[in-house]
Amino acid sequence: MQNPKNLNPPVHLHSVATTRRVAVSHREVAFWNTMIGKKVVMAITGIALVGFVIGHMLGNLKIFTGPETINVYSRFLREVGMPELEYGQLLWLVRIFLLICVVLHITAAVQLTRMSRAARPIGYATKKDIETTWAARTMRWGGVLLVAFIVFHLFHLTGGLVGFGPGQFKDLAVYQNVVAAFAVWPIASFYIIAMAALCLHLDHGIWSLLQTLGWNTARNEATLLMISRVIAVVVFLGFTSVPVAVMTGWIH
Ligand code: HEM
Repeated sequence: MQNPKNLNPPVHLHSVATTRRVAVSHREVAFWNTMIGKKVVMAITGIALVGFVIGHMLGNLKIFTGPETINVYSRFLREVGMPELEYGQLLWLVRIFLLICVVLHITAAVQLTRMSRAARPIGYATKKDIETTWAARTMRWGGVLLVAFIVFHLFHLTGGLVGFGPGQFKDLAVYQNVVAAFAVWPIASFYIIAMAALCLHLDHGIWSLLQTLGWNTARNEATLLMISRVIAVVVFLGFTSVPVAVMTGWIH
């Protein structure tokens, strides 16, 4: 016979677990609805995106060692994980992850802007931007320019759908594609301008995320500001070196 104490235990356990899950998801939603919650989401997705940007820049520098290295690297990105994974599967997972980060980053940014405007609907009488840098003031428009750049870039150097003559773009021939791409100077110039916007965005963005995560103290503030600036400038120089090398004939 069943012990009376054990009557319906699975139902009871199930409901406890469900209640906890609901409580957790309520807590997460409530956190997302706060300004600090959105800032934390911006900071965490920002770290992932900065990581990608640095990795991508280092990968691009392989172009200076010749066509073979970078073309093999491009194939490797698609073949990594095989045979357990399908061709390109891991790359697709990374693409989806990055897309989620970009969407969350932008959604949080737009909502934070709305929240701070709602908190001060009238605006400041004098808008002097005391103690803010140029990088801080260009975060929104710089961000919009970066989104436009990324969309163009994917159609351009990943898809070969814009900026190339017929038959000029070849799948997995990254070296040849990049040389052909930057032989068109308006496109090369657009890339350089976009990299300047990226540099400004990172200069302020990295510093902001370190603040959001509470890593700054009165003593390390100058060092963290310097680290943000160094990363931003290194990323700018690393990326722009490629179009500049093609335009000057170093890479051909
Ligand atoms: C001068 C600067 C840049 C150059 C020369 C460059 C070059 C390239 C090339 C050649 C590819 C295709 C790689 C392949 O098919 O294996 C690519 C893909 C890509 N790039 Fe860039 N890139 C630059 C800047 C950026 C920046 C600043 C970002 C983001 C902020 C970015 C994001 C991407 C993304 C998301 C892909 C697609 C990766 C994939 O799904 O395969 N790129 N880039």
